[in-house]
Amino acid sequence: MKIYAISDLHIGYQDNQRALAEITARPNDWLILAGDVGETHAHLKYAFEVLQPKFRQLVWVPGNHELWTMPSDSDTARGEFKYNQLINLCRSFQVLTPEDPYPVVLLGGSKVRIAPLFLLYDYSFRPECVPMERAVDWASEGGGFCSDEFLLHSDPYPGKAAWCTARCEITEQRLESCNDGVPAVLINHFPLLEDLIHLPRMPRFSLWCGTRRTRDWHIRFNACVVVSGHLHMRSTKHYDGVRFEEVSLGYPRQWKGRTTPDLSVREILSPNATCLEHRSASVHPS
Ligand SMILES: [Fe+2]
Ligand SMILES: [Fe+2]
Repeated sequence: MKIYAISDLHIGYQDNQRALAEITARPNDWLILAGDVGETHAHLKYAFEVLQPKFRQLVWVPGNHELWTMPSDSDTARGEFKYNQLINLCRSFQVLTPEDPYPVVLLGGSKVRIAPLFLLYDYSFRPECVPMERAVDWASEGGGFCSDEFLLHSDPYPGKAAWCTARCEITEQRLESCNDGVPAVLINHFPLLEDLIHLPRMPRFSLWCGTRRTRDWHIRFNACVVVSGHLHMRSTKHYDGVRFEEVSLGYPRQWKGRTTPDLSVREILSPNATCLEHRSASVHPS
């Protein structure tokens, strides 16, 4: 068994939807979908119908796009209500979500915990001198804009920062309660570390990319790998000895002619992953 990941499939684009069918079946393996599969309930359902028969287990975390309430859509659910609808859809396909217990799997004799997270963002990836109430203006003055401001609602929370705070608090408690030394794969659509964000064309888009609350979670919660998407800038980086994988496919203009969706399915862990041995050994010295 291996664990693979991809994010930002954005199957609202015809090219991406067609390309989804090209993803090779790996019936013994798990596939992590790290958010932004599409913009509608129908997009997510379509992706599950295509991918579920190809993998032993799918794991999904929401991206901002799945949480959008599209003006053209008959589904008018907003915020947490929309999220709960998507969770119900996942359950109908037996897809693991942030609302399920974090499973512990055996890879080559080593245990690893799979932790899908939904943490959102709180506009804290901004300079200290910019107050919260000016954050969106500050970003737009620098050419930064995110459609979430119109399409991603936070109901019943007073704002996305408050929703993010609530998500972080509940998730922190869950991760603390199972922090038993088993290495974890932490999965979140948004990067856990501000240092991972390099957006040369639109640096102030960082505002919509995460929260400073998670800056030490890869250490505190014994991560062996952290998987994220959202940036549409694929990368493998290491911080504090932990591997961070940005696994976006992205919009057609970002991948066509450069890669294929199947090549973009990133291997995250295999049975002989040395990071598991090292991390388990450091936690359980013999
Ligand atoms: Fe995306
Ligand atoms: Fe995103």
